Amino acid sequence: MAGPLAPLPPLCSGLTRNLMRPQLDKHRSHTAGTQASGGSTFFRSSVHRDSIHEPKGERPMKKEGNVFTKGSTRRSFLKNGTVAGAATVGAGLLTGNTFAFDEEAGVDRAPITRGDIAILRFLQALEQVEEDLWRQYAELGGTQDNEFSGLTGGNAAYSQALQLLDGDMPQYIHDNTDDEISHARFLGNYLESKGAGSADLTRFKVLPSSTADGAQQIGRLTNLTQLTIDTSFWSRYRSITNPDFDPKAQFAQAVPSLNVNQHTAIPRSNADTNGSVINLNDPTQSTFTDHLKAIAFTAGFHFAFIEQGGTSLYPALAQHVTNLEVLRILLSIGPSETMHFQTWQDKAGNATPLTDVDPVNHSTVTFSTLSAAQGETDPESLNGDTLQSNLIMPEPTHFLDQKFGPVAIIRPTSIAFGGAVASVQSFVTDGLFINPKTNKNDTGIVQALMRLAEEADQARRQL
Ligand SMILES: [Fe+2]
Ligand SMILES: [Fe+2]
Repeated sequence: MAGPLAPLPPLCSGLTRNLMRPQLDKHRSHTAGTQASGGSTFFRSSVHRDSIHEPKGERPMKKEGNVFTKGSTRRSFLKNGTVAGAATVGAGLLTGNTFAFDEEAGVDRAPITRGDIAILRFLQALEQVEEDLWRQYAELGGTQDNEFSGLTGGNAAYSQALQLLDGDMPQYIHDNTDDEISHARFLGNYLESKGAGSADLTRFKVLPSSTADGAQQIGRLTNLTQLTIDTSFWSRYRSITNPDFDPKAQFAQAVPSLNVNQHTAIPRSNADTNGSVINLNDPTQSTFTDHLKAIAFTAGFHFAFIEQGGTSLYPALAQHVTNLEVLRILLSIGPSETMHFQTWQDKAGNATPLTDVDPVNHSTVTFSTLSAAQGETDPESLNGDTLQSNLIMPEPTHFLDQKFGPVAIIRPTSIAFGGAVASVQSFVTDGLFINPKTNKNDTGIVQALMRLAEEADQARRQL
C-alpha cells in the first residue's frame, strides 16, 4: 500500500516545506478520490545542519580498557567468571569507584542521527493519531473538565455505559487522552528544539465527527465508527508463544466477532443511545440497551488494542536509536503506553455477555464471559488459546532462545511485527482511516504515515 521508499531528504534543507511538498504530492497523486484540502505544511520548522549529526559509517571500537577488558579482579565477583552482561552492573556497584556507565559515557554520547530523527518524527506523527482518536473518546466518554480544551459536557449515556466496565472509565479515558496530547506535543517540541521538522497532520483532519451529544463538529484524522478490531493481543499476552519467536503462532481472538465486519466504538448519533434510560444522579439506576452496551464494550477492547500497539512500538524502535537522550525518550514514553494497555485489558475483561446486531451496518457482535474462561493449562497455552480475563500480567513467553526458559516480556518487539510500518498497517486494518463517504482510505494520511514509518524502520544504531 505504501508508495516506493523515498530516501530521507538532505539534512541541510530537505525537511523544509518547499522541498518536502513535491514528495508528498507524489504520494497524493497515487490516491484516488477525495484528498485532504488545505495548504498547510506537512512539516513544521526547518532543520539546522549543525544540530543533527550524520554518521560517516561505523564508529571505531574504543581502544582503551573498559569494564569488559580490564576487570580481572571484578571478574572474580561474577558467577562462573562470566564477564558479559553482569559486568556492567557489577563494576560500579562492587568497587565503589566510577560507575561503568560513567566510564562508558564517552561512547554513549553519540550524536543524534538522521535515523533518530526519523524515529522521533514517526512517533510524533503517530501520537497525533492517538491524540485524535482519544479526543473523540474523551469528548463523549471522558471526565469533563478544563484540563484540555474542547470538551463539551460529554455524552451521559455513553459515559455511563462505559462505566459498566469500571466506574473509573471516564477518568481513565480523560487521562489517556491527556497523555497522548503530551506525547505528541513533547515530541514535536523536542524535534523543533533540534532544528528538525516535526510532522503536522492537520491537513488530514477531514473525517466527520459523531453527531451524538457531546461530540464537537470538527474534522478528524480517525474514524471510530467502522472498526475491525484484532483482539488476538488478548491471548498473545496470556500464552507462552511469542510472534517474534514463532511467527506461525496462532492467537485466539478474545472477541472473534470484533475481528470481522465493521463496528462502532462511539455513538454515531443520538440514535445509538436512544432507548437507554439514564439517571444522571445515580448511574446504578440507569438502564442500557444491548446496542449501547455493545458500543461501550467495543470501545473497551479498542482502547486495549490501540495501547498494546504502542507497547510494542516503542521498544521495537528503541533498538534502532543511536543517541542516548533519544533512547531515554523512547524508554520513558513507551512504558506509559504499557500502563495504558494494562489498565484497558483489565477493564475490557469486565464486559458482560450479549449479542447485538447493529441496526446501521447490520454487523453482529457477541461478547462472552471472559471471566469464566480458564487458562494456565499445562503446558501453558501452546495453542495461544488462553482467554481468562484476570490473567492481565504477561505470561512468561519464549524469547531469543528456548534454552533460556520462558520470560515475562513485552511482545512483539521486532521491527517486522512491532515496528513503525507494522503499526501503521495495524491501524489501517483496524479501519481507523476509513472515509465513511467513500469507504476508502483516501484522505492521504496513510501514505504520509507509511512514508514516515518506512524511514523510521530503516534507522539503525550508528555506534
Ligand atoms: Fe502515546
Ligand atoms: Fe497510547
